[in-house]
Amino acid sequence: MKRIAVLTSGGDAPGMNACVRAVVRYGIAAGADVFGVQRGYAGLMTNDMVELDSRSVAGSIRQGGTILMSARSNEFKTIEGQQKALGVLRGWGIEGIVVIGGNGSLAGAMSLHNLGFPVIGVPASIDNDIRGTEMAIGVDTALNTILDAMDKIKDTASAHQRAFVIEVMGREHGYLALMAGIAGGAEMVVIPGVCVNKELVIEEVRSAFLRGKPHFIIVAAEGASTSEKSITQVLTEYICEAGHDVRATALGHVQRGGSPTCFDRLLGTRFGATAVDGLMSGKTGVMVGLKQSEMVTVDFETVLAGYPDLSPELLRLAEPLAH
Ligand code: F6P
Repeated sequence: MKRIAVLTSGGDAPGMNACVRAVVRYGIAAGADVFGVQRGYAGLMTNDMVELDSRSVAGSIRQGGTILMSARSNEFKTIEGQQKALGVLRGWGIEGIVVIGGNGSLAGAMSLHNLGFPVIGVPASIDNDIRGTEMAIGVDTALNTILDAMDKIKDTASAHQRAFVIEVMGREHGYLALMAGIAGGAEMVVIPGVCVNKELVIEEVRSAFLRGKPHFIIVAAEGASTSEKSITQVLTEYICEAGHDVRATALGHVQRGGSPTCFDRLLGTRFGATAVDGLMSGKTGVMVGLKQSEMVTVDFETVLAGYPDLSPELLRLAEPLAH
């Protein structure tokens, strides 16, 4: 394979640049010309393509965001959009593409594969909601950002003996909330799919302060709400009913930015090199993944069949350690 392309799509994740860099440098070392598609599938449909050499990715391993830029595209979900993208790839003589992104981006990658174009996917999403890999690019950095924020919030919470609701990202998945809750020493973790019991929240808040805790921190996953109100609103109201002073902080997009951790730089680099190896050896229709510290490939059908389960062992840990 002599001409390959790489794109980043959907929500950016720290470590995407490490992956792009590895695709470029490893691809060139393998004898290919490497092209970068700018602005994800939206840019692919509008021919937004540049040739990348080793220097064009210099310094990018430590940068958050994505040097190729990203986008969410509805047009690419249509067959017309996909045909347009295919025409652009063929026009440039591209023989295979590496798609770096989350579930939506990988579904797009599968569409291109189904049209007969060689594609390898790379999981990148801070949500860690992608099947077939233990970790996606960006998760570790996002968790460290959340922990830093939690530690700071705990300082002020303790100073005022307040309760806090800290809302974290993750869409319908509770991975970030669960991990941050355990690692950050939260008093309670609220995740999607687990019913929030008002009486229990009130009881837990009251008893924690009676036991001498100087704060009560709830980490809530943004997708945990079952009503029109956000989960943060719901929990804040419950804590008010418990008679305690409460503040809420939605960490928002701060979780997606920042320089990637060592883990994400290494993961992005390994994923990028493995994706190039895959294309060069004729693989297509698969995503690279991490399993027991090793690189694996998993077919798109398996990846896109649903969401991964949260570890029962970690779910069990969250409750007793909060006491
Ligand atoms: O999928 C990554 C993610 O950051 C989610 O956690 C969040 O719900 C969503 O993207 C936000 O998307 P946007 O940046 O388009 O608002």
